[in-house]
Amino acid sequence: MSKIAVLPGDGIGPEIVAQARRVLARLGLPFEFEEAPVGGAGVDAADDPLPEQTLGLAQAADAILFGAVGDWKYDSLPRAKRPEQAILRLRSELGLFANLRPARVYAELAGASSLKADVVAGLDLLIVRELTGDIYFGEPRGIATRPDGEREGINTMRYREGEIRRIAQVAFQAARLRGRRLCSVDKANVLETTELWKQVVSAMATDYPDVELSHMYVDNCAMQLVRAPKQFDVIVTGNMFGDILSDEASMLTGSIGMLPSASLDARNKGLYEPIHGSAPDIAGQGIANPLATILSAAMMLRYSLGQTEAADRVERAVQQVLAQGYRTADIHTAGTKKVGTVEMGDAVVAALG
Ligand code: IPM
Ligand code: MG
Repeated sequence: MSKIAVLPGDGIGPEIVAQARRVLARLGLPFEFEEAPVGGAGVDAADDPLPEQTLGLAQAADAILFGAVGDWKYDSLPRAKRPEQAILRLRSELGLFANLRPARVYAELAGASSLKADVVAGLDLLIVRELTGDIYFGEPRGIATRPDGEREGINTMRYREGEIRRIAQVAFQAARLRGRRLCSVDKANVLETTELWKQVVSAMATDYPDVELSHMYVDNCAMQLVRAPKQFDVIVTGNMFGDILSDEASMLTGSIGMLPSASLDARNKGLYEPIHGSAPDIAGQGIANPLATILSAAMMLRYSLGQTEAADRVERAVQQVLAQGYRTADIHTAGTKKVGTVEMGDAVVAALG
């Protein structure tokens, strides 16, 4: 029996997670689900974005299915009480340092991208983002008042060699299982932190002679992703650059509603979430795209639960519903069938057979 912690969160989180949970339940595998509040829902339930009990459940589970957190109504709370703290704390408390964000263009959706179809058709890239270090967690941080009374915001970008080495190892190994090309993204021309990043990654290349390593500055990478995205196989980068580049990469696929992610610890225990946020503007309307969450569930099957065949089955089912023409509003184009969140879930469940 595998125990799956289900943390739906806020906004569209509960709607999309419900569909992914249906898909998982339909596989007929020995899974036990337990749900707990997180984010704004945690604040409402226990005055804490990551209630003690929710953290305990996440620690005890074999894998975590996560929706999204955040809503405008919590924006005025002190930082420690804001919904986003839940996901940041989960990543850090569970040691989920390796964030895998695959961006794949389904043939049927090449026309849904804002880029020309021939620029994105056939795209299949993987962003490996470091997730527990960098300016996100570096100390010192805060908003301080200087002696002259002027306020100053402070964050610190820092990486230890060991942190760089372990994420680079994940990326080299991932590249080995794919197209064997790894691009390490840095800003070594300006930032010492990423100069060290580049040195450490370069030194590791001799251990992976079968992987072709290249380096790119982050600004150039942002440009190359929209100019010629198919040049990339695997990209490895730090927390902040990875956050930005993965949102950019998502738009190559037609919609941010299509991008799943896995956040893994050293033993492949993981948290699985769509990379889009809680989208409070469309919450409760039944129009959100559940496919990124369903594809995240497929990654969970593959990486944490050892269910490769079931993962393939779910991914094939998603491909099939797209081939059948089902589209939520975000990926809808002329001539396709516009459906809501639940109907998309229905279609995937039906495609599983
Ligand atoms: C992401 C999100 C988070 C991040 C936010 C919600 C804290 O944007 O997972 O990409 O910045 O990492
Ligand atoms: Mg982000």
